[in-house]
Amino acid sequence: MTAVVNLDVPGPTISRHLYGHFAEHLGRCIYDGFYVGEDSALSNIGGIRTDLVQALRALDIPNLRWPGGCFADEYHWRDGIGPKESRPSMVNTHWGNVVENNHFGTHEFMQLCEMLGAEPYISGNVGSGTVQEMSEWVEYLTRSGDSPMSRLRKENGREQPWKVKFWGIGNETWGCGGNMRAEYFADLARQYATYCKNHDDNVLYRVASGARDDDYSWTETLMKSIGSLGGSPGPRDLYQATSFHYYTSAPTWENKGRATSFTDEEYDLTMAKAWRIDEIITGHSRVMDCYDPQARIGLVCDEWGTWWKAEKNTNPRFLFQQNTLRDALVASLHFDIFHRHARRLTMANIAQTVNVLQAMILTEGDRFLLTPTYHVFEMNKGHQDATLLPLHVIQDSARREADGLEFDAVSASASVKDGRVLVSATNLDLHDDARLRLDLRGGPWTLGEARILTAPAVRSHNTFDDPSAVSPQKFDGADRDGDALVVDVPAHSFVTVQLGLQ
Ligand code: AHR
Repeated sequence: MTAVVNLDVPGPTISRHLYGHFAEHLGRCIYDGFYVGEDSALSNIGGIRTDLVQALRALDIPNLRWPGGCFADEYHWRDGIGPKESRPSMVNTHWGNVVENNHFGTHEFMQLCEMLGAEPYISGNVGSGTVQEMSEWVEYLTRSGDSPMSRLRKENGREQPWKVKFWGIGNETWGCGGNMRAEYFADLARQYATYCKNHDDNVLYRVASGARDDDYSWTETLMKSIGSLGGSPGPRDLYQATSFHYYTSAPTWENKGRATSFTDEEYDLTMAKAWRIDEIITGHSRVMDCYDPQARIGLVCDEWGTWWKAEKNTNPRFLFQQNTLRDALVASLHFDIFHRHARRLTMANIAQTVNVLQAMILTEGDRFLLTPTYHVFEMNKGHQDATLLPLHVIQDSARREADGLEFDAVSASASVKDGRVLVSATNLDLHDDARLRLDLRGGPWTLGEARILTAPAVRSHNTFDDPSAVSPQKFDGADRDGDALVVDVPAHSFVTVQLGLQ
């Protein structure tokens, strides 16, 4: 495999927000995950587990989306403020009909963000909320001067407003967020966005709930109606981005396979489906380009990742799944694709951070483990806010095929920041190693540290008894050959190589 990298021809900036996260009131993500309560025997600050926060800080999480997901559209923020004992409870109808006591609310979420060093991304309720409710939530969070909501916030112990940039207007409004038609939601998005005000110097980045998968007509409908005068994008856009969600599942969405036991054919199909996100981002971008050729409006993939059958003996609506090397390779592939689309794609959020779907961390009582996916986020964090160095891998072998979907076995991307180049390479092939030769042009460079994430099998995963079965190791398969960087990427592995620019 070969690729040319022009070190002196920079591409767009890879926003750090492509490495965003998502924490929903779902299963054990918040309760018995991040949040164990102040009375817990586990070390916590305000009920938030400090060991998890410490582990996650190593990822430089740029933003955290909350409170859903589907939960967001039945969440009423006023139920989650004030003394915990007087907060009303509700039923979480989407996720197991469990009773939600609202002990983790706005203040707790903002504290979690502060502890993580992440920016909040709040997903507001359109499906069952009101314009006034959403407008007042923005005011509560961000207004400094005297106002009914800033007074209420101060009464609840927070004098200074918070900074909140990212604001979601609804979630999956085509489905759990209200089963709306695009035309109807397009008007609601305009209306809600109008009343999500910029208070003081807080400037919102409003994200309209977008398409499912490849529903490009949803994106087109939103793009047609985004401008303040009803037309296409202009200086007074009502919202600044539109989103979409895409999950990877195999063999089919309706018949999801298991996280740890899957056939080689299912593995190939997983990778073919993961690759599809490239086509999907391209499709949404093309539509957006027609209305907004300068890419003023962002595309946000605020839910992505693998979705398998819940682990045996767990509540199926809690979406708790193990995480193997296969999941890690899905993640590294997504990042290469996200990097390539950095001009239009402004944010992405993996679903979800703890104990739900493609998680970074799984917990069991006081124990926790870091998943293979966690390690991809950590190994790739040097791409955050770096400048893309565009590259195209010319494959040695024919394209693979699974269920009519074609895909490539090897993927790579590169970026530069502060004189350091980071190269990431993924070999999806189950059996064959791949030699990747990067022809680096445009400046002298030195070879730095290389690391690898792999394991004897793609089904390998970390357990509470063996938490490091899949973890990054030092890698000696990268070398220079004249001006070329040659990386021997073993079968089913993910490699990162650092280079210094002189
Ligand atoms: O991430 C789990 C769920 O998947 C979210 O709540 C919803 O938005 C999506 O369908």
